[in-house]
Amino acid sequence: MKILTGRPVEPSGAAPQGRANTAKISKHFVMASSPVVPIDPAPEGNTGRLIVVSNRVPIPTKDGTSSAGGLAVALEGALKQQGGLWFGWSGKTADRPDSTPHMLESGNITFAVLDVLKKDFDLFYTGFANRALWPICHYRLDLLQVDRTQTEGYFRVNRTFAQALAPLLRPDDTIWIHDYHFIPLAAELRQLGFRNRIGFFLHIPWPPSDVASALPAYVRLLNGFTAYDVVGFHTPQDADNFRQCLIREKIGFPFGNGEYQVGTHRFKIGAFPVGIDTETFVRTARTAKRNPLVRRMRESMEDRSLIIGVDRLDYSKGIKQRIESYSCFIRSNPQFRNKVVYLQVTPKSRSDVPEYKRMQHEIAEQAGWTNGNLGEVDWTPVRYVNKTIGHTALAGLYRMARVGLVTPLRDGMNLVAKEFVAAQDEDDPGVLVLSRFAGAMHELDAALLVNPYDTEMTAAAIARALEMSVEERRERWQALMGRLRANGIADWCRDFLAALHGDQPVVPDRGERHKTPRSRAAHVSS
Ligand code: F6P
Repeated sequence: MKILTGRPVEPSGAAPQGRANTAKISKHFVMASSPVVPIDPAPEGNTGRLIVVSNRVPIPTKDGTSSAGGLAVALEGALKQQGGLWFGWSGKTADRPDSTPHMLESGNITFAVLDVLKKDFDLFYTGFANRALWPICHYRLDLLQVDRTQTEGYFRVNRTFAQALAPLLRPDDTIWIHDYHFIPLAAELRQLGFRNRIGFFLHIPWPPSDVASALPAYVRLLNGFTAYDVVGFHTPQDADNFRQCLIREKIGFPFGNGEYQVGTHRFKIGAFPVGIDTETFVRTARTAKRNPLVRRMRESMEDRSLIIGVDRLDYSKGIKQRIESYSCFIRSNPQFRNKVVYLQVTPKSRSDVPEYKRMQHEIAEQAGWTNGNLGEVDWTPVRYVNKTIGHTALAGLYRMARVGLVTPLRDGMNLVAKEFVAAQDEDDPGVLVLSRFAGAMHELDAALLVNPYDTEMTAAAIARALEMSVEERRERWQALMGRLRANGIADWCRDFLAALHGDQPVVPDRGERHKTPRSRAAHVSS
C-alpha cells in the first residue's frame, strides 16, 4: 500500500463521529477481510481504467486488507480486474474549503477521498439526500422535507465532487457512479467537458411519477440522470417508474431495447438486480457455529425456536409493523408462548436526521412494551439489539433461525433476504418471510410473501413458517437458492459494466428469466 502525493488518506479505523469509514455502500454488515469476487475479464477493446464513485469508500486498513462488505468486494474485484480509482467522501468534514482529495494506493487501485465542509455536508447528506431523496424514493411523501438551502447544498456538493474528481480522470476511463447522493455528478462532469462513458446505479427504489414529482428540483434531477450512458435500477418496476417520469415530463423519448433518447444523446435504462457472493456466504454460515457469539446465542435459546430480523434502524424497514405482527402472532397462537424468541438486530443509523432520532425511541419503547405485556419471568419474547454484528456471527444466527423476517415497507433490494437464504442448512432450512415491497421479492418469490402493513397476514405467515413441513421448507429453499446461484454479485457487476461498455442489451433481467412458476409462489393471504 502506497500513500500518493497530495494528502495521505487516513486508513480505516480513524473514522469520525463514531462511524466506521468502511464500505457502507452495501446494506451488508462489515466483513473482517474480503476475498476478491472473480469478475469475467473486461470486454475486449476496453483498456481504460474503471472509476467507481460512492459516498462511502472502503479504504483499506493499515495492513492492506479491506474491511468491505459483499457489494464493495465485488466492486473492488472489478477495479482490480481493470485497475482503477475509487472516489468518494472521506468520512470527515472540514472547517475550511479544500478540493484536494486524500489519496492512497493499494495494488492497482487508488482510493481518493474528499473532506466536505461541515455546513455543506449537513445540507447534502443529513438534508437533501436523507430528508428529501430517501423518503420520496421509499414512497414516504409524509416525511419529505422541502428546503431550498438543502437542495442547493446537494447540487453544490455534487459540483465540488466533480471538480475534485476531474483532475484525476483520463479520457479512456469508464466511470461508475453509485446511489442517490450523486445523481447530478455526471451532468457536472459533462459541464467540465468530460465525454467518458458514465454509468449510474441507484441502490434504492425509484417511485412512480406521482410520488417522485414531489421531489424538490425534480426536473433538474431527471435531467441530471440523462447525462449518463446507462442508468441502472434493482428491478424492472423501478426502471419502468423512472422511464414514466421522463415521459410524463416530456424529457426526450423512449426507444426499443431499453434505450432512451434526449436531444442527440441516447442512453440505456435497465434493471440489474444486485446479488450476494453466494458460495462464500454458504461456506461462512457452515462454519459459523464455532463463533463465540453464535454459541452463546444457541445456549441462551434452550429449546426455543429463533425468529430473526436484521436491519439498519430505518423507517423504511417496517420494524414497528414487524414487532406488532409478532405480538399478534403470539397473541393468536398461544401454543408458541415461551417456545420462540424474536431477535431483532438493528444498528443505529443516520442519528443526526430527526426522523431517525425519533424512531430510535419509538422502536425501543415498542420492544419494551411488547416484552412487558407478553413476557414471563423466564421468557423475553423480543430481544432488541442496537449493535452491528460481524459477518460470520450473522451468518451463524441466520442458520440457527427457523424464520427470517424481512418485511420492509419499501426496499431497493434487501440483501439480508438473500444472505438468510444462503445461510440455511439444506437438510433443515429455515423459512424466509419476505415483504412484497422488497426488491428481492422479484427473484425470491418462493418465500412466504407478505404485505407488511397487514399485521394479521404477517402474523399468520410467521405461524405458517414455524409449522411448515421439512419437505415444503426444502422445496422452497431449493427454489430460492436456484435464484441466488443464477444471479450473484459478480453477475451484477459484469452485466452492468457490459451494458456500459455497450456489449450487452440492457435489462439482462435474470430475475424474470429464472422466475418460479406462479403456482409455486407462496403468497400468504390474510
Ligand atoms: O441503501 C442505500 C445505502 O446508501 C446503502 O448503499 C448503504 O449501505 C446504506 O444506504 C447506508 O447508508 P449511510 O451511508 O447513510 O449510512
